[in-house]
Amino acid sequence: MSTEIAAGTDVREHRILYGCMGLGGGWDTEPYTAADVDTAEAAVRAALDAGITAFDHADIYKHGKAEAVFGELLARDPQLRGRITLQTKCGIRVPARGRVGLYDLRADTIRQRVAESLERLRTDHVDVLLLHRPDPLMEPAQIAAAFADLHRQGLVRQFGVSNMDASTIGFLRAQVSVPLVVNQVELSLARRELVESPGTLEHCRAHGIGVQAWGPLARGRYTGAGPDDETTRLVAELAERKGTTPETIVLWWLRRHPARIAPVIGTARPERIRACRDAANAEPDLSHDEWYQLWISARGAALP
Ligand SMILES: NC(=O)c1ccc[n+]([C@@H]2O[C@H](COP(=O)([O-])OP(=O)(O)OC[C@H]3O[C@@H](n4cnc5c(N)ncnc54)[C@H](OP(=O)(O)O)[C@@H]3O)[C@@H](O)[C@H]2O)c1
Repeated sequence: MSTEIAAGTDVREHRILYGCMGLGGGWDTEPYTAADVDTAEAAVRAALDAGITAFDHADIYKHGKAEAVFGELLARDPQLRGRITLQTKCGIRVPARGRVGLYDLRADTIRQRVAESLERLRTDHVDVLLLHRPDPLMEPAQIAAAFADLHRQGLVRQFGVSNMDASTIGFLRAQVSVPLVVNQVELSLARRELVESPGTLEHCRAHGIGVQAWGPLARGRYTGAGPDDETTRLVAELAERKGTTPETIVLWWLRRHPARIAPVIGTARPERIRACRDAANAEPDLSHDEWYQLWISARGAALP
């Protein structure tokens, strides 16, 4: 029942993305190794097998090594780039040799970071560029100019933001001429703040902005890595009843929300990636009441 989505499609069409932050070896500036490339290849193959064809990066992941190993895979398999949607982010400067990390969304920085990402990824364009975090010093006119240039030059097809609330998105949308099509935020059964405090998700729905969830598996909290508590048991029970995996239930909880939240899964283990297959290929099979059962169990208290 695989419904693989063609490359170059609107990123909002993807039910799920594979997050590449776990690829490329360690968080250091040592070069990546052949073993790191093999790990990345196994993960990407597992994602494609599971029907996942959108890949999420950031310039900073593993100090650029996540993009670099991915670029090596693209160079090894010339067909691959045409099969996938490639998303990256810019806007965070990570600490290097004692300097502090900071945010930087100045126009020249955005242009420069995209050029560096394209070089590491060994591609002539990315499908989607996200601003990684809001920068208190950002000037929307500068972001607008950088986005317009990148779009005109064919270097970036679609644009979006990450970790931004409704008012910040509205502030940017008023001045940026290209559409902002995605907001990537932390969301899972364990991190429910945006579901529980209306504002950001509703703004996204009202303006046709797709929501992507980072940390959607809650680092395995309900699928083997956390305590054997009531929610973990409920997730397992629903998985068994529906003939799917606990990972899929946790991801369906996001997909079942009317914002049709697209999880960005970050496990590098092929078997865990494959366990997400039904979330990539099927519409969520969770009733209204089952969705509430999961929510109430995870929040640990009855609704008021
Ligand atoms: N926009 C942002 O600010 C932002 C921030 C963070 C991440 N992201 C993106 O979101 C993606 C996903 O984020 P995430 O990695 O936090 O999400 P996640 O998918 O919730 O968690 C994946 C992590 O949890 C571990 N894990 C999952 N299931 C497990 C289990 N059953 N037992 C033990 N460990 C388990 C994985 O380890 P294994 O690899 O060993 O399975 C991996 O380290 C990233 O790759 C990145 O693309 C974006």
